[in-house]
Amino acid sequence: MKIAQFASVGQPDQVIECVEAPDLGEPKENEVLIDILAFPINPADVLILEGKYGVAYKLPSRLGAESVGKVNKIGKNIKDFNVGDIVLPLDRENWVQQKMVLASNLVLLPKNVDILQLSMMKVNPATAYLMIKKYVKLNKNDWIIQDAANSGVGHSVISIAKNLDLKTINIVRRVGLEEGLKNIGADVVLLDNNNLSDSVKKLTDNANVKLALDAVGGDQVLRIGDCLEDEATILNYGLLSGKNIEISSHQTVFKRIILTGFWLMPWLQNMEKKEIIEMYAYLSSLIEKDIIHVPVEKTYPIEDIKQAVAHAAKYGRNGKIIVTPNGDNFSG
Ligand SMILES: NC(=O)c1ccc[n+]([C@@H]2O[C@H](COP(=O)([O-])OP(=O)(O)OC[C@H]3O[C@@H](n4cnc5c(N)ncnc54)[C@H](OP(=O)(O)O)[C@@H]3O)[C@@H](O)[C@H]2O)c1
Repeated sequence: MKIAQFASVGQPDQVIECVEAPDLGEPKENEVLIDILAFPINPADVLILEGKYGVAYKLPSRLGAESVGKVNKIGKNIKDFNVGDIVLPLDRENWVQQKMVLASNLVLLPKNVDILQLSMMKVNPATAYLMIKKYVKLNKNDWIIQDAANSGVGHSVISIAKNLDLKTINIVRRVGLEEGLKNIGADVVLLDNNNLSDSVKKLTDNANVKLALDAVGGDQVLRIGDCLEDEATILNYGLLSGKNIEISSHQTVFKRIILTGFWLMPWLQNMEKKEIIEMYAYLSSLIEKDIIHVPVEKTYPIEDIKQAVAHAAKYGRNGKIIVTPNGDNFSG
């Protein structure tokens, strides 16, 4: 079978390789053999290949935080899964054609739901969901502000917020995105600018904003801080600008803004399995109803992993890059 791996860090499309690995054989009693149907290439994967992610890797290493798979074979103690089931692996190393997973690390997904959308559900929609639900008590019609609003996470934030009757202010860095984001439920979409708080006040009729979601860092956070009400929370969850967060003493002392970080990995490690299953049941129901729908720019076979990674690292994409390691015919 084919897998993607990296033996050194550096320019992502140069260090990633598609190589042959031994077949996995028969599942042990509590294991499930799955065929990976699709996996996205996320910014964190690119950071890992560059050697800039917060986790050390023993090289050569497989990677890939998420995927969606189909059960191929089950071990003799397996009761909760059947051959042909669609499943979400909770473990990593998903950039492969097949993997052996402990049943306790799988979540059963509904059949007949868009496979490409399901392949992106573990990380970004869950990140959006947990950031909206777990940090600040939000009431109907409360406002959230976010940057990088046209990202996968950004799309999920807009869709989930809309579904929960919350309103969103969405900052983007280039023109041409307003209509698309408003179509999925964004209330306000605006280009980042030096008078961000004035623009936000005008467009929201002076709304009080309690929660900010930041994936950019740098001085973007300073400008967002000025848009927030006293004692609001900023959740930083990404480092897209590559720059450390800037925040002013006025914001931390006089406005008592709370700045903290969000990382999905410890959340998934610490949540009860029941809560994880409930969260993904909610998110897959939103995908099934087409409420969460993240644009896909292109799919690639695993043999073209270098081109796929190079494409994912490009500026101004209009959707995610997805690899379909066993082909595009998901019904076969
Ligand atoms: N902490 C966590 O647990 C966690 C979980 C999931 C995701 N994340 C982070 O969330 C962020 C988004 O991930 P994703 O998969 O949703 O991304 P994505 O769909 O691949 O899209 C990347 C987005 O980032 C924007 N962008 C890139 N550099 C930027 C910059 N310097 N300033 C402003 N915008 C910039 C791009 O805008 P253009 O379209 O204009 O190029 C695009 O909208 C990443 O930083 C990722 O690492 C973190």
